Amino acid sequence: MSNVAHRMQRIAPFYVMDLLAQARQLEAQGRSIIHMEIGESDFDTPAPIIEAGQAALASGETHYTPAKGIPALREAISGFYRHYYQTDLDPSRVIVTPGATGALQLAMSVLINPGESVLMADPGYPCNRHFVELVEGQPVALPVGPETGYQLTAELVEAAWREDTKAVLVASPSNPTGTLIADDEMQRLYTTVQRLGGVLIVDEIYQGLVYDQVGGTALRYADNLFVINSFSKFFGMTGWRLGWLVAPDSFVDPIDRLAQNIFLSAPTLSQYAALSAFTPDVMEILEQHRQAFQQRRDFLLPALRELGFSIPVTPQGAFYLYAGCGELSDDSQAFAGRLLQEGGVAVTPGLDFGFNHPESHLRFAYTTDLDRLKEGVERIKGFLSSGNNNI
Ligand SMILES: Cc1ncc(COP(=O)(O)O)c(C=O)c1O
Repeated sequence: MSNVAHRMQRIAPFYVMDLLAQARQLEAQGRSIIHMEIGESDFDTPAPIIEAGQAALASGETHYTPAKGIPALREAISGFYRHYYQTDLDPSRVIVTPGATGALQLAMSVLINPGESVLMADPGYPCNRHFVELVEGQPVALPVGPETGYQLTAELVEAAWREDTKAVLVASPSNPTGTLIADDEMQRLYTTVQRLGGVLIVDEIYQGLVYDQVGGTALRYADNLFVINSFSKFFGMTGWRLGWLVAPDSFVDPIDRLAQNIFLSAPTLSQYAALSAFTPDVMEILEQHRQAFQQRRDFLLPALRELGFSIPVTPQGAFYLYAGCGELSDDSQAFAGRLLQEGGVAVTPGLDFGFNHPESHLRFAYTTDLDRLKEGVERIKGFLSSGNNNI
């Protein structure tokens, strides 16, 4: 009998990693592959951040930092909310973490008792349910569709509320759908969750990657909640493993204690590098990246619709399109496999994002340049017209 803990039976792999491995193998054989499966920016980290990291290394910043992060970075994050989101945030509520991943683990660990449940949207970011499983809680995935912009609403939360419900986790913009929760809906969610005696956790990791409108933060109108954020996506720093958590005052000490135990501190080098992430120079570079993403979305959205994919809600953030492929195939996983092998385009099947009709959905990431996206669309067109999608 295996000695692997039972909880591991409930931790599913990230299927897209298999697909990525297959894509890399095909590339090693000389095949050209258009990557639309990768959930990270194709832009490198802005040069001033890299230079700040190099300077930190050269000056010997190679030791642990306080578990909550260096005070200067916590101040800088608070200043970022003040400057860009007109939101006052006491830096004492900011905890610097190893990515949003570290922030999500801290939040779940300090909030969820064994057996308590956490409501979340399906489709959604797959790791969320595993963070809940790890602390012996119960993830409750609520199916959402185009009628609510693939997001939870106050009504959905209220209807699904149970005796054991402790928290609600939402993401705006969302992965995989790229949709936002409007300010008024977020306020209704917050007041509903408060009234029901639970805690709202808002994942704002794609903050900054917002199109057609000005992005926001739930912190602008709510205090008693958890906000997850990261340098990974908008700042283009996935490999630096740096994020942050904003928590209600009363949770800061328990989080500090837990962080001291489970990771001691977020990477020191990354923290010093991130001090320059909010400077006007860097923000200007990031604005150019944002515009490039918007241009790509504006190309890809109508192009995919024309090919027969169904994208009923225009995504206004992140770098994903979540497309119904039910008219083209009834097995999105097999479809993605054939599209990769025969069409040379890698996309992520719905299976990675939950249990809500994954067989008829695919996620397209526009994390590759416009020319490659155009080529990708041509290849998909060729694949569809060959009839090979009829699986
Ligand atoms: C919604 C969401 N939350 C959290 C993460 C984790 O990001 P990181 O740990 O790199 O900050 C991701 C990564 O794709 C994500 O899409």
